[in-house]
Amino acid sequence: MKRSRHLCLSRSDRNRKVRCRSVFYPGYTFLRLPELLSPHMMTAGLLLALICTNCREQPVAKIAESSAMETLLNNEDLQVFGEKLFFDTNLSSPEGQSCAACHGPEVGWTGPDETVNKTGGVYPGALHERYGNRKPNSSAYATLSPVFHSFIEEGKIVFCGGNFWDGRATGSLLGNPAADQAQGPFLNPVEQNIDNAKNLVDKVCRSEYSSMFIKAGKDIWKIPDISKSENTNLQFGIIAIAIAAFEHSGMVNQFSSKYDFYLKGKVKLTATEEQGLELFRGKAKCSNCHVMEYVPGGALPLFTDFTFDNLGIPGNPQNPWYAMDTTFNKKGENWTDPGLAEFLEQTPQYAMYAEENYGKHQVPTLRNVDKRPSPDFVKCYGHNGYFKSLEEIVHFYNTRDVLPSDKEVSDPKPGVNCWPEPEVAQNMNTAELGNLGLTAEEESAIVEFMKILSDGYTLQSNQ
Ligand code: HEC
Ligand code: HEC
Repeated sequence: MKRSRHLCLSRSDRNRKVRCRSVFYPGYTFLRLPELLSPHMMTAGLLLALICTNCREQPVAKIAESSAMETLLNNEDLQVFGEKLFFDTNLSSPEGQSCAACHGPEVGWTGPDETVNKTGGVYPGALHERYGNRKPNSSAYATLSPVFHSFIEEGKIVFCGGNFWDGRATGSLLGNPAADQAQGPFLNPVEQNIDNAKNLVDKVCRSEYSSMFIKAGKDIWKIPDISKSENTNLQFGIIAIAIAAFEHSGMVNQFSSKYDFYLKGKVKLTATEEQGLELFRGKAKCSNCHVMEYVPGGALPLFTDFTFDNLGIPGNPQNPWYAMDTTFNKKGENWTDPGLAEFLEQTPQYAMYAEENYGKHQVPTLRNVDKRPSPDFVKCYGHNGYFKSLEEIVHFYNTRDVLPSDKEVSDPKPGVNCWPEPEVAQNMNTAELGNLGLTAEEESAIVEFMKILSDGYTLQSNQ
């Protein structure tokens, strides 16, 4: 069954008509922190909010491009300031950990440490004995996720958008999920561990690039010297939006893979890549969720529809979270990742939908999924990094429901003669994966196709 996921498409499909609510930056977000938007942006925002009530038939891009948040994210001064923040190792407490420690460009903006990838997949924080519980997803293409929202499909509420595996950085505070997200790691005790926003702001004001902060405050927000402001929320908001602006820039969202050149008619695919592409959108059903539709001249596809699913991925026994002390992990070894359910439970208007979303994680982009510094460098896949190669995860999609459980065989070899039990069996998707009937050759063609999604492809002179 192919689900009609089009209601939740963001820029991945510019020319499609969508509902007002799926639009990137709904008007109401402008009212939350109006001080972050300068007066002319504010007017634009309010105007949009008005237009938005009538925009059921408006193409997404038109609105997104003219929105105040889009203007901020495209501001070059903010992007360069954000780049400094992203790579600054002095901001964490203790010093030494930048965002790039868990989001390295050389691996497609996810975890750059091979030892971690080969084992638990979860990265230590600035205090090295502290761990979170999930693999870092890519910080590239994250700004293109719509603000977290829901819609009804076939009589069910479907959730969509936001950042993080569980969508909890909703974007409803600052207007973009990645901007909300950027406020998280600095203050998270298992990440950069800074005591409070004021300390972060002080560090930025003491940095060698503090003039960029002051310039952005003056030019965009019309504040004579933002470093002297008493309004920490505003200062912290500007810092987060700058990081999101960097993440939104062409330095991060490059759209420069071989596949992008292919879509623009500049390069041909090999026979195997072509076969992988056909399987990806046909027999293997991958594009049901990792959307690849492209309208010539429109926005390039993001390989996600930003919805949530439980694929039944096995738990990763090496996840260091199991051994974290009870201040952080109350359930110890018995912990299973609730995914989207945990965030829904904590949000009164969504709490009643928690149960049916237990174990679901956001469909990640597959852009840069194979990006690595050398061909034999190990990356890991899935929210818990259980899979250590693209071959393994494709084999799992193909045979999850074909091979027996590891408990039923005497000599279990996962992926060869069995698969371990799912981390969460509840709400597992059995309609779109598990028994795809792919041959070994077809599996590897799909892998070959995913390899052409890495940014940084250069056209050969003879092409
Ligand atoms: C210690 C490792 C670590 C550090 C440091 C870190 N992150 Fe992350 N990041 C993660 C993990 C783990 C996740 C996924 C967490 C989850 O889903 O619960 C994540 C998720 C994200 C996402 C969401 C991507 C998406 O598509 O949903 C973005 C964006 C991001 N991080 C940006 C940043 C920025 C900006 C910084 C620095 C301010 C940063 N990260 C610092 C580990 C880290
Ligand atoms: C029903 C929706 C759906 C379908 C169909 C689907 N995926 Fe996924 N994919 C997801 C979700 C959700 C995740 C994250 C799941 C998790 O970590 O628990 C994911 C994760 C992945 C990852 C790991 C990415 C990372 O950064 O860790 C890869 C690779 C992948 N899918 C490739 C494929 C391929 C290839 C196919 C077709 C054979 C496919 N997917 C079909 C929803 C889907």
